[in-house]
Amino acid sequence: MKFFADTAEIDDIAELAELGLVDGVTTNPSLILKSGRDILEVTREICALVDGPVSAEVVSTDAQGMIDEGRKLAEIADNIAIKVPLTWDGLKACKTLTTEGRMVNVTLCFSANQALLAAKAGATFVSPFIGRLDDINLDGLDLIADIRTIYDNYGFETRILAASIRSVNHISECARIGADVATAPPSVLRKMVEHPLTDKGLAAFLKDWEKTGQKIL
Ligand code: G3P
Repeated sequence: MKFFADTAEIDDIAELAELGLVDGVTTNPSLILKSGRDILEVTREICALVDGPVSAEVVSTDAQGMIDEGRKLAEIADNIAIKVPLTWDGLKACKTLTTEGRMVNVTLCFSANQALLAAKAGATFVSPFIGRLDDINLDGLDLIADIRTIYDNYGFETRILAASIRSVNHISECARIGADVATAPPSVLRKMVEHPLTDKGLAAFLKDWEKTGQKIL
């Protein structure tokens, strides 16, 4: 499974990239707002840090507007994935942009039928939002499993990019189900390393080591 960082914060992306932990980046208008940066500038900086796909989202709601914005965003770098919403116009824009050979991430997916349409429109990625389904008492992970089954039934090549990830359990469950990518906030990616038995075990080893009176260096 690939890890994407769901952020537009350059420092976080740089740290994760140095560790080899980031295979791509996803942004959206809310994350751009949070960063306080200009979309074109910050996206260019992200693309210079990360070799994998960097999603940048259009904001028009009509197909032609999305296509025009998508083409402009794609000029930033070769690794831009143009993010379009899962609407009828978004599907039209997806079809046009993928036919031109560009990567497209169809976002705001909340149902298996929407994911089926995205695949038919040639999407490179589909982004089902797990956390926001959980927020309304539905099971976001069930949706990931349904899309996995449907795509495998027919050999669709659209990659499942699990989004709106809020917990480390979301990530391990997505990996178990077979999502192709998990995009998560850097704070969640960092939390994956945590385990109380690791901390406890390390503390005990260090205590015993002190008693030996030895030094390695
Ligand atoms: O990748 C989509 C993500 O940014 C949305 O997450 O937590 O706002 O639902 P959230």
